[in-house]
Amino acid sequence: MKSPRAMNKTSIVILAAGQSTRMKSEVPKVLHPLAGKPLVQYAVETATQLTSKKPLLVVGHGADEVRRAVGDQVIYVEQREQLGTGHAVLQARPLLEGQHETVVVCYADMPLLSTDTLSRLVELHSKGKGPITMLTVHADEPMGFGRILRDEGGLVVGIVEEAVATDTQKKIRELNCGVYCFDGHWLWPHLTQLPLSPKGEYYLTDLVAMAVAEGQAVEALKISDVTEVLGINDRTHLAQAEAVVRKRINERWMLEGVTLLDPTLIFIDATVRIGQDTIIYPNTYLQGATTIGRQCRLGPNTIVRNSTVGDGCTIEASVIEGAILEEDVDVGPFSHLRKGAHLATGVHVGNFGEVKNSYLGPGTKMGHFSYLGDATVGREVNIGAGTITCNYDGQRKHPTIIEDGAFIGSDTMLVAPVRVGAGAKIGAGSVVTHDIPPGSVAYGVPARVRGKVEE
Ligand code: UD1
Ligand code: CA
Repeated sequence: MKSPRAMNKTSIVILAAGQSTRMKSEVPKVLHPLAGKPLVQYAVETATQLTSKKPLLVVGHGADEVRRAVGDQVIYVEQREQLGTGHAVLQARPLLEGQHETVVVCYADMPLLSTDTLSRLVELHSKGKGPITMLTVHADEPMGFGRILRDEGGLVVGIVEEAVATDTQKKIRELNCGVYCFDGHWLWPHLTQLPLSPKGEYYLTDLVAMAVAEGQAVEALKISDVTEVLGINDRTHLAQAEAVVRKRINERWMLEGVTLLDPTLIFIDATVRIGQDTIIYPNTYLQGATTIGRQCRLGPNTIVRNSTVGDGCTIEASVIEGAILEEDVDVGPFSHLRKGAHLATGVHVGNFGEVKNSYLGPGTKMGHFSYLGDATVGREVNIGAGTITCNYDGQRKHPTIIEDGAFIGSDTMLVAPVRVGAGAKIGAGSVVTHDIPPGSVAYGVPARVRGKVEE
């Protein structure tokens, strides 16, 4: 479907310099998250899929923040003063003039535009003779978009902005999406000739009338799916786009073999990966750089953020952040795994458990209201109810080491730094202030060694 020859000579300019006052935000509009990814990332990815050339991103308002977020995925072009869409594209001239046959222009605040539509636009452009091919949409609701003017023969003759449209023109339902394909050698000289609008801006849209006045044809690719060209101008638009993206993501995972019980109540970021035969219950949020394995059961009422969850895990009514769960790990209800929690295969963390920056070896069990912080726990350890690593002395954090097969009695305080040797048993209610040798039995406040496990 793509014509590779045309794509090789295609550059994309993404406009993102506008002020976007209607967001009423300190954050640049294009950095607001949509399904967990910044808005601008959608346009950047669409552009990157279209051609192998790095897209150009025209930045202005919040340029520094946008640069920090987008990094080296794009080539930046600065528009110091926001003098309109025509002026914005003109800023790319020094980088593109004489280089590429085709220049595609789109917006950073139009996240739902598909690569497929863009490539159909480029395809149509490469077949035609005119210098401009534009994307239009037929919509019942005009959304403040410019209206497409056509002559009796149906040929495009211009675009009129809503602000200056006559009542008759306002009734036109073919709208300008703001996505165009230009012949580079035609575009650059004409951009410098754009007239100043009554609002003091240079409108890219005026190029259409210029081309027509020269007797050139302007082609249009007319689409009917308005959602594709939904522009984000305020937070109601952001919510609409969010609903569309969420639905797409959920449908994708269901088709990949993931069961979602009531997809309207399950929130999966665009950055998440999920294995087959996993079942997700309502009120579950999978966020950020998260990977879920196969045959897991997640939720209800669960958040998994920036975490890796292996196959066969169960997480119920819990919050998992920055954690790694190997296979067949079982967490919850009502537990909290924090940054650096690493639970090996077969670990069980029951209710009201908290684990931070700790490794729990294979088969270790921590059933009831315990806290492990800065701990390294071996395999098949039993952490009794109410066990706490006292890892913080008010100034510094200290490590706790619990070796393989140890048994920590209920309500034990492990005052770090401290080590409990392999197979040792700590009696209930102990306060462990010194290292306990392997195989010994210790209890008391403070805990003392009272014998050997065999005895
Ligand atoms: C523009 C079109 C309109 C079209 C609509 C579709 C013009 C004159 N009008 O109107 O016909 O129906 O898009 O959404 O082009 N930008 C810059 N620098 C600027 C001005 C804008 O980078 O100086 C960027 C904005 O960040 C935004 C995009 O260009 O991403 C569109 O600008 P906006 O002011 O929203 O144009 P509209 O008034 O919506
Ligand atoms: Ca707009």
